[in-house]
Order: sequence, then C-alpha cells, then structure tokens
Amino acid sequence: MKLSSANINVLVKACRKAAKTLIRDFGEIENLQVSLKGPGDFVTASDKKVEKILIDELQKARPNYSILSEEIGEIKNDSEYKWIIDPIDGTSNFLHGIPHFAISIGLEHNGEIVCGIIYDPIKDEMFIAEKGNGSYLNNQRIRVSSRSKLKDCIIFTGGPRIDSENRDLVLKEYKNFSSKVLIPIRKMGSASLDMAYVAAGRCDGFWQRNLRYWDVAAGIIIVKESGGFITDFNGENEYIRNKTILVSNAKINSEMIEVLK
Ligand code: IPD
Ligand code: CA
Ligand code: CA
Repeated sequence: MKLSSANINVLVKACRKAAKTLIRDFGEIENLQVSLKGPGDFVTASDKKVEKILIDELQKARPNYSILSEEIGEIKNDSEYKWIIDPIDGTSNFLHGIPHFAISIGLEHNGEIVCGIIYDPIKDEMFIAEKGNGSYLNNQRIRVSSRSKLKDCIIFTGGPRIDSENRDLVLKEYKNFSSKVLIPIRKMGSASLDMAYVAAGRCDGFWQRNLRYWDVAAGIIIVKESGGFITDFNGENEYIRNKTILVSNAKINSEMIEVLK
C-alpha cells in the first residue's frame, strides 16, 4: 500500500532531489576525513545546499506556504500551512562519515503537524505519515512495538551538549534509565530517526531534553500515526513548550514517566 496525497508527493519529490546532493557530499566527506582540510566548512555548505534545494522545491509547489527551517529561520507567508525543515538531522554523524542522518520535514496546519517525512538517504529508508492515514516505511505500513515491560525494551536518548544547562539532570535521568533496562541505552545521534525508529517498532522508547521544533516536527505525526505516544516528561501534551519529549509505544509510556519523575 502507498500513502499518496498532493502534499506527500511534494515532500517526496523535494527529498529525493535534495538526497542526491546529500549522498554525493557524504561520499566527499569520507575522502575529506583524511585530507588536511577540515570538513567543518564543507558540512556547513552541505547543510545550506540541501536546505536551498528543499526550499526551492517546496516553494515551487506551494508558493504561499510559510517556512521554518533550521539554517535560514522563518519565511513568513499568508497561508495557514508551514513547512518545518531540518535539512540534515544528525550532522555530527554526517561529518564523521557515520551513515545515520536524515532529511526531516513536517507540515504544520494551524499549529498542528498534519504530515511529515523523515528520509535516510544512505539506507534509502523513507518514513512518511499523514493525519488519519497511517505511517509508512517505503510504502509498507508501520506500527510501534508491543513490548510492555520497560526492562525488556530498547531505549534511545541524546545529549547532553557541552554547553547544556541541564547536564547533571540529563545524566541523572540517564543513570535512572540505565538501571531499569537489560539492553544498554542507545545514543544514535539523529533525533528524527530516533522517533522514526519508535514508529517502526525498532526502538520501544525515546526521551530527550532541549530538542528544537525542526528536530521533532515530522516525527510527531509519524509516531502518532503508528500508534505511539508523545508526551512531555510529566505525561502532558506540552512537549514543544517544555522542551522535554518522551516518545514510546502505547504500553511503556507511564513506566517511562515514573523513571523521569
Ligand atoms: C541534532 C540531532 C541529535 C540531537 C541534537 C540535535 P542536528 O540535530 O538530532 O540527535 O541529540 O540535540 O541538535 O544538529 O544534527 O540537526
Ligand atoms: Ca536536528
Ligand atoms: Ca540539522
């Protein structure tokens, strides 16, 4: 089965086009790692290049939609629709030649994310979802896992950054979780793919502080449409405002909230 609507088709086309540049640049990065020239500027250029392709394509198809994109910020327009773009989510992986990063784009309508795409160009894995129509990975319907005991689950997280104000708190939360699960916690380095993996049932739960809207926008709808839960650390709906996000299958949400208390 295939998820196909006008906006999904626009997203898929934009991602496929930008992915060509991204894959080519990733190949270059692998060479650059052994060259004298550091890859820092190259990566910045790559982020911007991918972002420009995405924005050009999206504007061509939907000239009146607004845009919020990580590198350039906001482009305000008169529509009730807004694209939320992270051109490369997992830049550090990209920069180090680790093939785990994604293009992530959500579409907001009157403040609610109504469709989204997370595309891992290296593995050619495309996660898409639309409100009311389910979540898909490469045209196959996906659902969250059904594990019900936190102890048996595989859990992802990210952070803290070197400049994090919450370093001690984040490490405390990590310590608490690590004493509850048999499989050690994973830190994969791409929040959008972390959420997509929960949606696909590969991972059972994910928690993180201080993510930005573009890190999670597409993931929100992909997780919801796969039967997953998204809350803040208190179990409430304020995960964007509070900058604490907890994503899980339907069964371990409350057990994860207990750990975060
Ligand atoms: C980062 C990734 C990472 C998360 C960071 C994000 P970027 O996004 O999603 O997994 O831990 O907080 O900033 O910088 O690679 O787009
Ligand atoms: Ca990001
Ligand atoms: Ca990014």
